[in-house]
Amino acid sequence: MSRRREVVSADGRSDLGRGDLGSADGRAVDPSAAPVEAAEEVGLRPRHLADFVGQSQLKEHLEIVLEAARRRGEAVDHLLFAGPPGLGKTTLAGIVANEMGAGLRITSGPALVRGGDLAAILTDLSEGDVLFIDEIHRLARAVEEILYPAMEDFQLDIVIGKGPTARSIRLDLPRFTLVGATTRTGLVTGPLRERFGFVARLDYYTAEELESIIGRTARILGVEIDRGGAEEIAGRARGTPRIANRLLRRVRDFVEVRGEGIVTRATASEGLELFGVDHLGLDKVDRSILEALCRRFGGRPVGLSTLAVSVGEEPETVEDVYEPFLLQRGLLMRTARGRVPAPAAWGHLGLASPPTPEGLFD
Ligand SMILES: Nc1ncnc2c1ncn2[C@@H]1O[C@H](COP(=O)(O)OP(=O)(O)OP(=O)(O)O)[C@@H](O)[C@H]1O
Ligand SMILES: [Mg+2]
Repeated sequence: MSRRREVVSADGRSDLGRGDLGSADGRAVDPSAAPVEAAEEVGLRPRHLADFVGQSQLKEHLEIVLEAARRRGEAVDHLLFAGPPGLGKTTLAGIVANEMGAGLRITSGPALVRGGDLAAILTDLSEGDVLFIDEIHRLARAVEEILYPAMEDFQLDIVIGKGPTARSIRLDLPRFTLVGATTRTGLVTGPLRERFGFVARLDYYTAEELESIIGRTARILGVEIDRGGAEEIAGRARGTPRIANRLLRRVRDFVEVRGEGIVTRATASEGLELFGVDHLGLDKVDRSILEALCRRFGGRPVGLSTLAVSVGEEPETVEDVYEPFLLQRGLLMRTARGRVPAPAAWGHLGLASPPTPEGLFD
């Protein structure tokens, strides 16, 4: 198992930058720069587990799983990576393939429309290959059912013909490793989840981990940065490597145009303020979500779709991209009756918080 193959996805998009074009999490500060940044992001992805910063427990577990498979000369057990956007799920899929010297095929849940789309990919795999399915919670039911026997018994059931003459034939598949990624574990069906040998949840990164990622990215991009500069960017990166890298690029632009080309605490802070990223790392959309909750709705519970409309975003984007961090930072709460601002949200906006409405948490 030591060949690398061209990465092809079912939807014709290719390479590890897939899904990052135009920024999958909708946070490009400057959308026109997105394609260049997507290409840059590919170059920034660590290719070895040792270069993958943070997530130490996950890394330790993965190291053992990979090493054991290597010693037995077998394909790695199927892996599921879950967690908010930009924490390194796609990166890990690439690392698994690279560390195993295996080929990597990339596709995504929404790209696999019919059972045949998946069957075509499966029958084209080689022994030991890694098949990466991004957004696996969005697989069509018919496609998911093909995946069950493929994952469990490495077999593919194909129905030939229609009506009374239809018959099913069984094909043996090579032993492959399915790596699934999802931002929404709750939406991965039970039967699918159970077929993964290893399920890992990625957590937000600590400030120290982000500093080290920023340092690494700065070296790769040739940006001069000091400790204070890295700390300042890390503090505003919402625990997310993709955002850390993006903020570093914005600050790099800023210091190249307005400064002396060196990222320090002062220049980083000035640059990030200019681009509307506040000291908690909240951007315009985050703040308009909090503004809507506090000012427009006065702290009363608001449904997701109403909230999304009021900030001009899709409900899924609000739920997958913005909410997790606001929840984690204790700025927003989910109640049975809807979203409400947490006390800290009022403070962050410089408003006095009203008393919690009665019965809200019943
Ligand atoms: N642990 C890490 N160490 C260094 N860089 C990282 C790490 N995790 C992520 N990155 C960087 O962050 C960027 C985004 O990571 P990645 O695309 O793997 O996230 P993702 O979880 O797949 O996001 P999405 O859910 O949006 O697909 C990558 O370019 C990579 O360079
Ligand atoms: Mg990804």
